Amino acid sequence: MKSTEVTSGNQKIFELDSKHISELRALELTCFEYHWSEEQFKLGLEKKAFYVLGYVEQGILVGYLAYSLVLEEMEVLNLGVHPDFRRRGIGRALMLDLMKRCRDLEIKRGLLDVKETNIPAKALYESLGFKKVGVRKNTTRTQGKMPTFMIWNSDDFNP
Ligand SMILES: CC(C)(COP(=O)(O)OP(=O)(O)OC[C@H]1O[C@@H](n2cnc3c(N)ncnc32)[C@H](O)[C@@H]1OP(=O)(O)O)[C@@H](O)C(=O)NCCC(=O)NCCS
Repeated sequence: MKSTEVTSGNQKIFELDSKHISELRALELTCFEYHWSEEQFKLGLEKKAFYVLGYVEQGILVGYLAYSLVLEEMEVLNLGVHPDFRRRGIGRALMLDLMKRCRDLEIKRGLLDVKETNIPAKALYESLGFKKVGVRKNTTRTQGKMPTFMIWNSDDFNP
């Protein structure tokens, strides 16, 4: 596995900043076919257009969750776990951490797009209370692969 060392002490989930862009991009390469540019990551991590939570295992960044907050709404922009670390509860832990942050900030709704064919991600989101409310066609991110649009209401969340 490519080294993606970050310093974090014992804390597993923490908010990433612009120091972590190269680690984040290396991890993203292992998770997705499409990739955000360094400029896109900078927009979030330096200009706070969005936020990124990282999951660290023995000093290595192995999972991340990018999200935005607008008024009372949160949107999941990306969630990825390194292939060697999947099915160990890391994706769920990142989502739960975000949902707790939303509850603390009194964010009422969460939105996300997920490809209809992405069985692992859909199962994860459904298990957390996200519900399919429709199908969006032709977004640039999903390259015409019919993403399902899901919504979560904070009232349904009881950690
Ligand atoms: C989707 C993803 C983030 C899940 O991360 P993960 O750390 O492996 O997930 P977890 O171990 O926390 O699993 C949580 C739940 O998700 C579901 N799940 C995860 N992987 C699954 C799989 N391969 N098949 C079916 N369900 C799966 C299960 O419901 C699982 O709960 P369980 O283990 O109690 O059965 C990971 O598979 C990934 O990075 N995929 C590639 C990138 C991607 O598609 N991201 C989503 C973009 S919308």
